[in-house]
Amino acid sequence: MIGGGTTAIECKLLNRHLLALDINPHAIELTQKALDFESEYNPRIKVKLNDARDLSLLKDESIDFILNHPPYVDIIKYSDKQIKQNLSNIHDIDLFCDEMEKVARELYRVLKKDRYCAILIGDTRRNKMYQLLAFKVMQRFLKVGFELKEDIIKHQHNCKATGFWVKKSKEANFLLIMHEHLFIFKK
Ligand SMILES: C[S@@+](CC[C@H](N)C(=O)[O-])C[C@H]1O[C@@H](n2cnc3c(N)ncnc32)[C@H](O)[C@@H]1O
Repeated sequence: MIGGGTTAIECKLLNRHLLALDINPHAIELTQKALDFESEYNPRIKVKLNDARDLSLLKDESIDFILNHPPYVDIIKYSDKQIKQNLSNIHDIDLFCDEMEKVARELYRVLKKDRYCAILIGDTRRNKMYQLLAFKVMQRFLKVGFELKEDIIKHQHNCKATGFWVKKSKEANFLLIMHEHLFIFKK
């Protein structure tokens, strides 16, 4: 779920080997372009089209660290809505969690024992009411065997859509969601 490639850029700057995956060919292209810069380091970085629910390209217990940044249900659609494999096309929160459980199971399988898996995820609203998306996804990671080491709160201000939501929140009397959870799991 490499998206526009922020994690890949950081890996190149910090000299970390990386396997970056995404289901969207456009994300693969964006990430490859984003990596086209001079850096002090030249780590091994592979960018591949792959569904996060099937990591059969990787052996059990072969990965040192995982960073996963999934869509937050369908808040932002990362591909054409016909493409069912893209989890950003799932509206129903429980169905989304079912698919994230498949991702979590694969992440657990490929991670080495005693190593960490981080996932960044936020919440949402439905009919003005708060939906605990992040906690529900976190519970699926616990279900497949991970232990929760930390819940780091990332403040989130001034996003592209903030202006639109400030106006709406005043009209409809709800608070803006201004944080995301960075869950750190241990295998
Ligand atoms: C929140 S974005 C990641 C943003 C990223 N952190 C960045 O710097 O741009 C989520 C990504 O998950 C990808 N994605 C959705 N379903 C997927 C799946 N089944 N397997 C792999 N990637 C998937 C989307 O295409 C999208 O690029």
